[in-house]
Order: sequence, then structure tokens, then C-alpha cells
Amino acid sequence: MKICFATNNKNKLFEIKNKLGEAYEIISLSDLGHFEDLAETQDTLEGNSLQKARFVYDTYGVNCFADDSGLMVEALNGEPGVNSAFYAGEAKSSEANVALLLNNMRGINNRKARFVTVITLVLNGKVEQFRGEIDGSIAEHPSGSHGFGYDPVFVPDGWQCTFAEVDLQLKNKISHRARAVEQLVDFLK
Ligand code: IMP
Repeated sequence: MKICFATNNKNKLFEIKNKLGEAYEIISLSDLGHFEDLAETQDTLEGNSLQKARFVYDTYGVNCFADDSGLMVEALNGEPGVNSAFYAGEAKSSEANVALLLNNMRGINNRKARFVTVITLVLNGKVEQFRGEIDGSIAEHPSGSHGFGYDPVFVPDGWQCTFAEVDLQLKNKISHRARAVEQLVDFLK
């Protein structure tokens, strides 16, 4: 069965193809001739991933899933949340986002945080959603050079180091995204 993953992110495509095996032919947005980012104008991860998957299903008539992720910090009432990519502005700069986060958390003792991924699947018009989460805390200072986004300041519960201090393969075994992908794969299989 052919199914579109509404992304052009090569790492995400590789991860899902690896986990799904041969039964599904995963195509990307660019395979459909769509090269721009899809609109994400909703105020929840559920809303944004649904918006993207539905757009592709309605426009191209192909079964589709889409993801949206964010970092929820308890002491900041869930911020940066759905706004994680643009926390410090339109430039989508990871350094600026991390700097703003650490600044907003200065003097705050409750460092609890959670990464969340929601995947929405639109299959023959029917909607299914899958949610993956990982709990952790925000470090006082950035450490490590692997990964992306808020990885240098996110310490998963039970770990003594940030996501950015370990190999990407290790992070990808337990990450919020991996947990949501596993649920999608179980459902499709
Ligand atoms: P996306 O929905 O996967 O594009 O994620 C949106 C934003 O959330 C990213 O631009 C990052 O700022 C942040 N984010 C999501 N997942 C991760 C992660 O695994 N590590 C660090 N930051 C992440």
C-alpha cells in the first residue's frame, strides 16, 4: 500500500521506512511534487498534524500521515509547546530558542519538561492519532553537540546527560517521536 508521510525531512523518512518494512511504500511530499512547507496554523500538536495530513489527503487523494512535536515545560505553563520551532522568532534558530528558554527559566527550581509528538493518520478518510511522550528536565546550561533543537538542554528522566550528549541512534530508541512512530507502525501492521 502506498502512503505519504507529509514531510521532506530525510531523517524522519529514513526512520519510518526502516521500521515499516516492505508492506508499505512510503512516499514523501516531494514525491507528490510538493516542495513547500505545509501550513501549521492550529494551536495544538493534534490540530497541526491533522491539518497537514488532511491537506495532503484532500489535495492529492493519497492516504497520509503527518507529525508535529514540541517541548512542554511545566513551570512555563506548557511553553514553548506547539510554538517550539518559533519560540524566539521566525528565524527558527535553535540557539536563540534554547537561550530564550534558559532565560525564561532563570531562578525557577521546577525544571520538569516533556517532549511530545503527535502523528495523525488519514486512512481512507478515517482519522487516527498517536501520541509519544518522554519526560525529563531542563538543564541549567546547554551540553553536547548531537541532535537538534532543544536536545542540548533536555535531560531524560533517569539519565545524567542531555539528549545532545549521546549518539542519535540511542536517542531515537526512546524519543517521543520513536514512541509515536511505534504506535503508528503497530496500527499499520
Ligand atoms: P517538528 O514538529 O518535529 O518539526 O518539531 C517542532 C520543533 O520542536 C522543532 O523545531 C524543535 O525546536 C522542537 N523539537 C521537536 N522534537 C525535538 C527533539 O527531538 N529534540 C529537540 N527539539 C525538538
